[in-house]
Amino acid sequence: MNVGIIGAGHIAGKIARTLEYTDGIKCLAVGSRTLDKAKAFAAEFGIPKAYGSYGELLDDPEVDLVYVATPHSHHFDVTMEAIGKGKACLVEKAFMANAFQTKKVLDLAKEKGVFVAEAIWTRYQPARDIINRLISYGRIGTVCQISATLSHRVMHLPRIVRPELCGGTLLDIGIYPLNFVRMVCDNPIEKIESQCVLSDLGVDLSETISMTLEGGILTTIHSSVYCEGYNTATISGTEGCIVVDNTNNPGLIRIYSKGGRLQEEMAVPENISGYEYEFQACKDAMEKGLIEPPQMPHSETLFLMELMDSLRKEWGVHYPMD
Ligand SMILES: NC(=O)c1ccc[n+]([C@@H]2O[C@H](COP(=O)([O-])OP(=O)(O)OC[C@H]3O[C@@H](n4cnc5c(N)ncnc54)[C@H](OP(=O)(O)O)[C@@H]3O)[C@@H](O)[C@H]2O)c1
Repeated sequence: MNVGIIGAGHIAGKIARTLEYTDGIKCLAVGSRTLDKAKAFAAEFGIPKAYGSYGELLDDPEVDLVYVATPHSHHFDVTMEAIGKGKACLVEKAFMANAFQTKKVLDLAKEKGVFVAEAIWTRYQPARDIINRLISYGRIGTVCQISATLSHRVMHLPRIVRPELCGGTLLDIGIYPLNFVRMVCDNPIEKIESQCVLSDLGVDLSETISMTLEGGILTTIHSSVYCEGYNTATISGTEGCIVVDNTNNPGLIRIYSKGGRLQEEMAVPENISGYEYEFQACKDAMEKGLIEPPQMPHSETLFLMELMDSLRKEWGVHYPMD
């Protein structure tokens, strides 16, 4: 599978490096708003083709999967154009700026029969299955509470602080603990309460979200772009708990029994960077003729976008594209 990267920024570099070592998947092209930048990126990562515009990359018949790595504010236009041209897309999280854009993209993908997926890497990583198997084997009894934290001070990045680039914690970082909760338990939300601290520019800097899920499962999420956090997730059950380190790239999974005794510590399988799984999932789904990956169905991408819309509305966080 030949991948074409849109936007030669930070995460694009990590992906290009990962794909150098991924079997059966190759980074064939990079598209940037400027040709010099595309050429420099291509030279750094040994990518055969460099384009000075996104449109040129979308027109390359050899590109099988377009990987959209621009700020969330700029996912919509290029993804719509790509799908319109029949190109499969893997779009960085947050998938779009809001649910309105998300629905338009997913509707177009359905209409055209074109594959599109959200690049929320934890959904595709093996840790997810390990954790869910431990729960289903009854290792911690009945799940009662889930808590997850992800906080990194990244206030120096324009795309984090500027509303026109869809800045704020929720869409960039809070999305991971939210996904963590949903991967463990996607029962309907019975009640949701949240608190948030806004920046002077009106984006969410730090937040706490608490949800009661059907079946009496309490969940708490802490997230911030303003401070550093102890970024673990804990699933508490009647017989023990599972502690996952860390929330957005699980490495170690610990199982504790009653009384806080460490029962077992498991490491996830060795990997290249952890980003290879999302590309492998796209390849597998595309080979089966699917338009969405089973690990992150379109309905789930839309559900989370709608949830994040409603939280932003409550907090008064508005983007120009809302
Ligand atoms: N999965 C993960 O672990 C992970 C980690 C970090 C970020 N991300 C996601 O990846 C996306 C990009 O994040 P990043 O940290 O890579 O951002 P970044 O370093 O700022 O790169 C984004 C790239 O998008 C392009 N771009 C197009 N319009 C832009 C605009 N108006 N302002 C700035 N850049 C623009 C630029 O590439 P050209 O100049 O080449 O066109 C830029 O280099 C975000 O959606 C973010 O949530 C995911």
